[in-house]
Amino acid sequence: MENTLVLLKPDAVKRQLIGEIIARIEAKGYVIEDIDMLVPERDTLAAHYEEHEGKPFYEPLLEFMSSGPVVALKVSGHRVIEGFRSLAGTTDPTVAAPGTIRGDLGRDWGKKVVENLVHGSDSSLSAERELGIWFS
Ligand code: CMP
Repeated sequence: MENTLVLLKPDAVKRQLIGEIIARIEAKGYVIEDIDMLVPERDTLAAHYEEHEGKPFYEPLLEFMSSGPVVALKVSGHRVIEGFRSLAGTTDPTVAAPGTIRGDLGRDWGKKVVENLVHGSDSSLSAERELGIWFS
């Protein structure tokens, strides 16, 4: 059994898509093990996004992610890390495949940072690290 961290970003919460996105995760057969709704502290975001420090979208990203509540989910299932990333679709919602969360529900709003509704850990190492940040 594997666990992953899923974040429903502030754009998902503002657009009232929490239920829609969680329904897709559950309909796929994955299990919500833990859930928390919070406005993230800068320290939390800096730890979570440490690999992006110095990139042009880093500050806009932290500003966006602290602009309102996010929903953090610990999700479990066999191969859930890969499976959720497949459900989410590619980073850029404009070209994410229809049928995916980003492809069906996301678009480019012309902001400095790509607002793409969800985050999912990209490896078991990241999942362990990120779950430690959000569910310590
Ligand atoms: P996420 O998977 O949470 O990880 C980093 C986030 O930064 C990403 O989703 C997008 O929201 C954003 N992002 C990634 N690449 C870019 C980019 N080239 N320009 C703007 N924002 C980006």
